[in-house]
Amino acid sequence: MTSFFLNPLLHLLPLLFLDPLFSQANLHHSKTFKSSLFSQSSANETISPTLFFEVTKPINLPTTKPCSLTVLQHDFGFTYGKSPVLANYNFPSDCPFQEFSKIVLEWNATCKGRQFDRIFGVWLSGVELLRSCTAEPRPNGIFWSVKKDITRYSSLLLSNDTQTFSVYLGNIVDKTYTGVYHVNVTLYFYPAVEKLVLSKEKWGDFGSDVDSKADLIIPFSRDMPLNDGLWYEIENATDVKVKEFVIPQNVYRAVLEVYVSFHENDEFWYGNLPNEYIAANNLTDVAGNGPFREVVVSLDGEVIGAVWPFTVVYTGGINPLLWRPVSAIGSFDLPTYDIEITPFLGNLLNGKPHKLSFSVTNALNVWYIDANLHLWLDSKSAKTEGKLLQYDIVPLSVTSVVDFKGLNGTFFMNTTRFISSTGWVKSSFGIVTTKSIQDLSYSNSMVINGNLQIINQTIHFNDSVYADIPAPNAVKKKSLKRFLFYLDSDDIDQGNRTTFSVSNVTLGFDEKKFNDADASSPSSSLWNLQKGKGVMVVKDNLVVSGVASTQQSYNYEDGNFCYSRNISSSNYTILYDEVRNTCDERAKSHFRYGLSRWWPFPARRAFLTSHVTDPNGNL
Ligand SMILES: *[C@@H]1O[C@H](CO)[C@@H](O)[C@H](O)[C@H]1NC(C)=O
Ligand SMILES: *[C@@H]1O[C@H](CO)[C@@H](O)[C@H](O)[C@H]1NC(C)=O
Ligand SMILES: *[C@@H]1O[C@H](CO)[C@@H](O)[C@H](O)[C@H]1NC(C)=O
Ligand SMILES: *[C@@H]1O[C@H](CO)[C@@H](O)[C@H](O)[C@H]1NC(C)=O
Ligand SMILES: *[C@@H]1O[C@H](CO)[C@@H](O)[C@H](O)[C@H]1NC(C)=O
Ligand SMILES: *[C@@H]1O[C@H](CO)[C@@H](O)[C@H](O)[C@H]1NC(C)=O
Ligand SMILES: *[C@@H]1O[C@H](CO)[C@@H](O)[C@H](O)[C@H]1NC(C)=O
Ligand SMILES: *[C@@H]1O[C@H](CO)[C@@H](O)[C@H](O)[C@H]1NC(C)=O
Ligand SMILES: *[C@@H]1O[C@H](CO)[C@@H](O)[C@H](O)[C@H]1NC(C)=O
Ligand SMILES: *[C@@H]1O[C@H](CO)[C@@H](O)[C@H](O)[C@H]1NC(C)=O
Ligand SMILES: *[C@@H]1O[C@H](CO)[C@@H](O)[C@H](O)[C@H]1NC(C)=O
Ligand SMILES: *[C@@H]1O[C@H](CO)[C@@H](O)[C@H](O)[C@H]1NC(C)=O
Repeated sequence: MTSFFLNPLLHLLPLLFLDPLFSQANLHHSKTFKSSLFSQSSANETISPTLFFEVTKPINLPTTKPCSLTVLQHDFGFTYGKSPVLANYNFPSDCPFQEFSKIVLEWNATCKGRQFDRIFGVWLSGVELLRSCTAEPRPNGIFWSVKKDITRYSSLLLSNDTQTFSVYLGNIVDKTYTGVYHVNVTLYFYPAVEKLVLSKEKWGDFGSDVDSKADLIIPFSRDMPLNDGLWYEIENATDVKVKEFVIPQNVYRAVLEVYVSFHENDEFWYGNLPNEYIAANNLTDVAGNGPFREVVVSLDGEVIGAVWPFTVVYTGGINPLLWRPVSAIGSFDLPTYDIEITPFLGNLLNGKPHKLSFSVTNALNVWYIDANLHLWLDSKSAKTEGKLLQYDIVPLSVTSVVDFKGLNGTFFMNTTRFISSTGWVKSSFGIVTTKSIQDLSYSNSMVINGNLQIINQTIHFNDSVYADIPAPNAVKKKSLKRFLFYLDSDDIDQGNRTTFSVSNVTLGFDEKKFNDADASSPSSSLWNLQKGKGVMVVKDNLVVSGVASTQQSYNYEDGNFCYSRNISSSNYTILYDEVRNTCDERAKSHFRYGLSRWWPFPARRAFLTSHVTDPNGNL
């Protein structure tokens, strides 16, 4: 019964929802359908384009008027497999300021027709600035705008050299996939209200987070003739990408920022099945290697850090209607992951080349990975020195239960990872001893029963950095992140090559940041939760009808600034949208009581349950 294992997977294929009524579930569509599909979804010019967006807090901008620069304007037609689109970048000559407190990248795009969700990256001199996913167009057109705070790349952006700005967005345009992405990228430079001299004297701008500006950024992206930048492609579990680099001899702080996205056989890695199960059932064309992945970063052959990524669902994932118009958490601005590598500077400050390498445990084709090494230079000395004092890596611990009878099964997997390093660096700040700790845990349970597949995964990603600075005082920074993923999906075979698919999905991204690791309450907290429910009628891999609704609760609080948004959409319509940017009592109580008080998400009966003709009368 081949239909069995195809069905759970159906949910986990990138889907293209061309039009509410005529779409296709995956790439293996029949030729004959193409023409009817083509003729049935002509645009209605009287319907205005749909605005898509990801819910996130606004960037805290200064009141100064920014200088702006349109750095790239391009129509991404057939760009798949071609070189990235390049533009020359020069800091705008008409901008009279020299100090900026905020720099923002803005990506505005339109598209019309039908197209898949496409991943894209934006680089400057090989340093990645943004990883994102396009929205899928509709016949009447769509528009979306992404803004990202790129202040941390200031040293690059303010350089007087002419640099290469590059965007890779692999799109395919043909008779069926008609959507061309029309894109403008604009940079905004907000002048500082006061001179920023003071912050420069702080050790590594520590604690100021994304505003923290390194003096030099070394890219670890694919070597291109023009150093224009492109991600590495990691194709399997043994694939390792290595790059040699040399750092200046007066570095006193180093942070590696990792960009990561997962595609094709690993787009839904958290739902991949154990190999024993696949082998025992003679399954083919099913993504395996189980549901655990980690990006491993090594320096001269030693593991120095790991990234257990958040489960970003792209705009065509699970049921495309779930993400219209509110896209999935992280889909328009994928999270990046910082690894403090200051303790290892003692090994790197010898002026010699060193090797940084990237791999992905259990990887299937394909992971797009690159990284930026942010370096702080001692302006008062030509040479710093350092020593690694302690390095402790507890090997990945895995407990796993694989229990199945025929095609039905339950699978559990828990893993933990602990990496700690301590080292000192002597600079004009004195001797600063830094300790960096990554403490990660993961738990995944999966149930397969008939056509039902339930995935429940939680990642706890905790990292802390302690820097013993002689004066004025020590820095102890901690970030506690929790990534939740839950999917409950079922397929009801209707016969006649038609399947009725139901899926409930939960995505959660929570983070508590402590500028003082010993403090009892965090300096900032984010609770971001999305719950969606969708149905689709799929015939011969084509989505012939469907509807989905999503609710999201976003709550951010940092003591000075609060932002919360509760929003719900169904079938393109916003049902409610409540925004607050004042720190009211409710937000304060969340802040005080933390996650446990807020979780679980209060059940609301806001889901719509019967928007589609249900062939079985079940919904
Ligand atoms: C276009 O949409 C408008 C508004 O929904 C509707 O009145 C009109 O009949 C539609 N036209 C076509 C050709 O479908
Ligand atoms: C980009 O879109 C946003 C949101 O509509 C708008 O505020 C902004 O002005 C646009 N940018 C440009 C350069 O047109
Ligand atoms: C890009 O900029 C051009 C020129 O200002 C404008 O005509 C076009 O509408 C913009 N496109 C988008 C997607 O914002
Ligand atoms: C760029 O040039 C200006 C004027 O020549 C100078 O003041 C500034 O320091 C230079 N900036 C950098 C980053 O070299
Ligand atoms: C893994 O991928 C690399 C890079 O494409 C390739 O050279 C190697 O043969 C692959 N290994 C396996 C076991 O497939
Ligand atoms: C898998 O294939 C083997 C060899 O062809 C066969 O003996 C076995 O019965 C098959 N198992 C299932 C579950 O189909
Ligand atoms: C995995 O961890 C969860 C909760 O942390 C626990 O309930 C479960 O028993 C563990 N499973 C295994 C296989 O160790
Ligand atoms: C698998 O589960 C389905 C649904 O509960 C059931 O009908 C079927 O008999 C089960 N198969 C096995 C091998 O247990
Ligand atoms: C998911 O698993 C966690 C334990 O890891 C459990 O606390 C939670 O209730 C589960 N969620 C659902 C919806 O079953
Ligand atoms: C989805 O959730 C609803 C209640 O929220 C539940 O009744 C239904 O069984 C779920 N369906 C699936 C396929 O998970
Ligand atoms: C089966 O599909 C054909 C072609 O789409 C359609 O004409 C027919 O009505 C369908 N039959 C049932 C029972 O759904
Ligand atoms: C969804 O919205 C579209 C356009 O607004 C409408 O034509 C369609 O009937 C709606 N579908 C459902 C199931 O509500």
